Amino acid sequence: MMKTARSILRDWYYGMPLFWRKFARKVYYFPKDLLSQRKSFVPPEGENFIGPGDFEKIGVEFFNYLQKYTLLHPNAHVLEVGCGMGRMAVPFLDFFNNGSYNGFDIVEEGILWCTKKIAPQHPRFHFQVADIYNKLYRPNGRFKATEYKFPYQNEQFDLVFLTSVFTHMPANEVEHYLAEIHRVLKKDGQAFLTLFILDEEVRQLHSSGKSFLQFSFPLENCFTINEKIPESNIAFDWQYLTETFEKYPFTLLNRLHGSWSGRKDFVSFQDIVILKK
Ligand SMILES: C[S@@+](CC[C@H](N)C(=O)[O-])C[C@H]1O[C@@H](n2cnc3c(N)ncnc32)[C@H](O)[C@@H]1O
Repeated sequence: MMKTARSILRDWYYGMPLFWRKFARKVYYFPKDLLSQRKSFVPPEGENFIGPGDFEKIGVEFFNYLQKYTLLHPNAHVLEVGCGMGRMAVPFLDFFNNGSYNGFDIVEEGILWCTKKIAPQHPRFHFQVADIYNKLYRPNGRFKATEYKFPYQNEQFDLVFLTSVFTHMPANEVEHYLAEIHRVLKKDGQAFLTLFILDEEVRQLHSSGKSFLQFSFPLENCFTINEKIPESNIAFDWQYLTETFEKYPFTLLNRLHGSWSGRKDFVSFQDIVILKK
């Protein structure tokens, strides 16, 4: 498969050491950040490590999916795994009655941002950092994701969600996180995940060059777009996922296609899966 200018640029960016990636982002966005007016919880683009796009709009988009496709309600106790800079937390700010939001992430800057901008005015919101290795996001992390026990009690949550997190974790880590998600979910609780999912149709779109991302490099039970930094973007076979979901066990409630693969029928950019404990 021929490399496009976009994929060459992306590989170059992901290939930079973390320090230089941060520096390049700051310099590139400096003029825009200097002139732009932002709400207090919207980070400057130069500090935003979670990806491009309109911070507020994307948050609202996913809040709407959660309301439409899950049991989310104002008394629900919600956990966000990999909460980044609070993009998904913001639309919840005026939502809860007796419910609550907990989020954790492995990037300290993100958790510091949320702790400063959200937590002080919103006592139902709690953020924590986890010192876990990820080659893209925390190359000096001390602990392995495969050994991490989420800092929450058994059956604490009605809903656990992850947006664009399993797209940066290899299969053995995802399997361990699914076990932890199962542990912290109440009976009949739900999990909302975004993923890149491969199946026959997607492989055909891949080979005809219609997919936005090319997962050309096989790893154990998953595929990456970048051999050197596998966590850049990772995809999973649908058959592997369904077998894995059954292990814990989760019941599959819904699968919604993403546009990344080149499909014409889609809901969002990434694929979405909704599971029930
Ligand atoms: C593309 S960002 C998405 C952030 C957030 N979910 C959102 O949609 O705004 C991916 C996030 O996954 C987090 N992440 C990567 N590996 C993780 C792990 N093992 N545990 C928790 N978070 C992780 C990264 O630190 C980063 O914040």
